[in-house]
Formats: sequence, structure tokens, C-alpha cells
Amino acid sequence: MSNALPLMSAWSVVATPVPTDAPSLNVAELLGALSHALDLTEGQPKGHCQRACWIGTQIGMQMGLTAEALSDIYFTALLKDLGCSSNAARICELYLADDISFKRDFKTIDGSLAAALRFVMDKTGIQSGFAERVRAILNILRNGGEISRELIETRCHRGADIAAKMRFPAEVQDGIRWLDEHWDGSGKPEGRVGEAIPVASRIALVAQVADIFHKEGGRAAARAEILARRGTWFDPAVVDAFMSAEKRAVFWQAIEGDALDRHLSDLAPARSSAPLDDDYVDDIAAAFADVIDAKSPFTAGHSRRVTLFTDMIAEEMGLDAGHRRWLRRAALLHDIGKLAVSNQILDKPGRPEESEWISIRSHPAHSADILRQVAIFRDLSDIAGAHHERLDGKGYPLGLASADIVFEVRMLTVADVFDALTADRPYRKAMTVSEAFAILDKDIGTAFDGDCVAALKRAVGRLAADGGAPALVWG
Ligand SMILES: [Fe+2]
Ligand SMILES: [Fe+2]
Repeated sequence: MSNALPLMSAWSVVATPVPTDAPSLNVAELLGALSHALDLTEGQPKGHCQRACWIGTQIGMQMGLTAEALSDIYFTALLKDLGCSSNAARICELYLADDISFKRDFKTIDGSLAAALRFVMDKTGIQSGFAERVRAILNILRNGGEISRELIETRCHRGADIAAKMRFPAEVQDGIRWLDEHWDGSGKPEGRVGEAIPVASRIALVAQVADIFHKEGGRAAARAEILARRGTWFDPAVVDAFMSAEKRAVFWQAIEGDALDRHLSDLAPARSSAPLDDDYVDDIAAAFADVIDAKSPFTAGHSRRVTLFTDMIAEEMGLDAGHRRWLRRAALLHDIGKLAVSNQILDKPGRPEESEWISIRSHPAHSADILRQVAIFRDLSDIAGAHHERLDGKGYPLGLASADIVFEVRMLTVADVFDALTADRPYRKAMTVSEAFAILDKDIGTAFDGDCVAALKRAVGRLAADGGAPALVWG
């Protein structure tokens, strides 16, 4: 499959892209590239997860751990933020704050109670009315421990579940699950102590903090912070290994230079990681769809349902199996750019302000950007980036003319809007199937391709006749 899809007007040609197994690419490289989407949700500078992966693996090597344990550490540190999107909506609700900058800033406070309180006073509800702000702060002061325990539990358990869907072993799942536990028992969600915390978690936490403080204040700041938490947050043995490992020139050169990808792929766990076949790539795309959908309660299940509706249209229109599989991946990942948009905007009841619209309308461009950087998904980036375009040229972000909107995009757009209409939204309840089709019909030729709408109607009608429909309200 070439990178550039032929630009077709509607149904002139049905191309047959076939997803190709990529023997030269392994799971470590694919996840390294996708981890940039996790950095966006965490408000971290690009490459944070990859740098944590490098630091964690260097510490593990210094500790003389086995090849198997190093592999667990490599993937725990790389994927530690898989559950990151799952607590974003709750952070906005509780702290009346922008989840992305909140998460970024929360990681740089020094861990003391005074610093935490100062942070809450500074951060909570800066854009809200005074009364709401006081109420939010009082709630956090009264229930702060329980609230942060709940946020961390959601995030870490969700991350572990997604790692399981990506076929990682229990050691990696547990490494992610217990990431926020501290050596002295002051961590969350269980307050585990010492060696009751998996070694992969203990190392990944040091790696995470080292990268954040290094980015903020350089090598000395990272060293000082890691030493300051020795024996409290951090396992002393892990801190000592960090202090030895960081003396090697390559340790910092790798994360300060622009060849981190090469350094990572030279590491043994990357070289020995599983090769990708098409089924595995599908599983990883589906797992990332879950990361995307977990961002907001209003998008739960959206990417998977859009994938189903897109595939139903594609089947109805006679696309072959390889082409359908390729298009399903585009559908699973079409909204990955939403990870870069704050939940304060995504979940806002009522009409967004103009500046908020600009942010919302940027998400397809973010989707295209993210996918373009992932070799195996590069040829999906134009499809994902165009899913809010319209045939009359009034869509976004590019305002493409109909001749430039390929038929795969037309299928995805109809599926996307059909799901948006038939699911609850912050500002309205779900519509029935016939109400949704009435809206699609009205915009045939201006927004939507009539052949795609007709195909979806036939497919949904058959689904109803078979008695199996994904949470649709009929009427
Ligand atoms: Fe979208
Ligand atoms: Fe969507």
C-alpha cells in the first residue's frame, strides 16, 4: 500500500489496499511511535514515555536483571500511561481544571503535603467562579486522599487492562497497575510497601520522575529529585542503580540528542520483542481505540462502533477483505487526535466558545500528525485526518473539495456521524435510528455521500432483522 491514496471522486475506482505484515517492524517500534499519543494526554513533552523507557531499562541493566525482567521494565515504562485518558474527565469534574496542564504540573510538585495543597489552591478552578472554586477546593481538602486514590486506581487498572489486550504478560500489566505505589507505603491505590511493589513499577516510577525533572531543570535537577525521594517514594536499590547508570555518558546523551529511536531499538528487549503480524496490529489498534474512547464518558465505545458501522458500509459496497481490514484500522484510530484536546472542552455541556471550537476542530489534524509518525499506520493518516470534511467544501480542518474526498473517507464520515447521533452527548440524549437517518438524508450531497448513507441503511436494517444491534435506539 503506497502512502498516497488515489484521490477519487466517489466510486470511480475501488482500490484494494492490502495490509501488509511488516517483518522489519516489531512491536517495540510500533508502540514507541504510538507512545507519543500518550505523551499528549499527559501534557508531557513529546518522547516522555520513550525517555522513561530508556532510563528504566538502563537502571534495570545496572541492577543486573535478567533479559526477561528487562523486557518487562522496557514495556512497563513505555506503556505506563496507557490508562492516562481514563481519569481525564474526572479530573476536570473534580478540579474544574484543564486535565492536560493539570497532569503535567502535578508531576513536578515535590511530593510534600504543603506542596500538594499549594498546587490545589493554585490550580483548582482558575477559570471558574469564586464560589465554585471554593467548593472544589473544600471537596479536595476533605476528600483529597480518597479522590487521588480513586483517580490513580482508575488510571492504573485501566492501563493494565489495555496492556493485557496488547498481549503483554502479567508482569507488564502489574508493572503498570502498581506504578504509583511508593517504597514507604505512602503511594496509591493500595499503599503497598517495599518489595510488595513489582520491581518494574519501582523502576518505572524513578524513570518517570527522572525524565520530568530533567526536562524541567536538567541533569542536576533530576539527580537531586531522585536522591531526595530515596527511601520514601523510591526503592533505595533502584536509586543507587540510577546514580551509577547516569554516570555513563550515553545515559543522558541518548535522551538529550535526536537519536533516541536508534538507542531504544539497539536495546535487547526491543530487538527480541514480538514481530508484528496483521492480527497483532489489529489488536494494538483496537487497544488504542480503547485509550481514545476512555478519554470522555461521552465517547465510550465510539471508536469501536464507528469501526463496526464503517465496516458494515464497506461490506455492503463490496470491498474485499484486505481493504476492509485496512479501513477498520483507520476507523479505530480516526479520533486519536482527541487525546490532545482537554476534557474541559470535550465534555462541556452547551455550545463551545469560539476558541474552544478551534481546539475541537484541530483534532483530525492531530490524528493525521500522530498516525503519519507511525510507519505502519502512515497510509491511514490522510483518511483519519479528513473524517470531518464535507462534500460541499465546508468541512474541517482543510475544507477539502468533494473531488479530493476519497471514498474511504466518505464511508468513515457517515459512520462517525451516525454513531454521534445515536449516542448520548453532553448537550443532548441519543437519537433513534430513524431520527439519525433523517438528519443524514437531509445532508446527502452537501455533507454526506448518498451511496454510503444508503449502504448503511441497508446494513443497519439487516442488523435489526437479525436482532443484533450495538446499543441503538430503534424508532
Ligand atoms: Fe472526530
Ligand atoms: Fe469520531
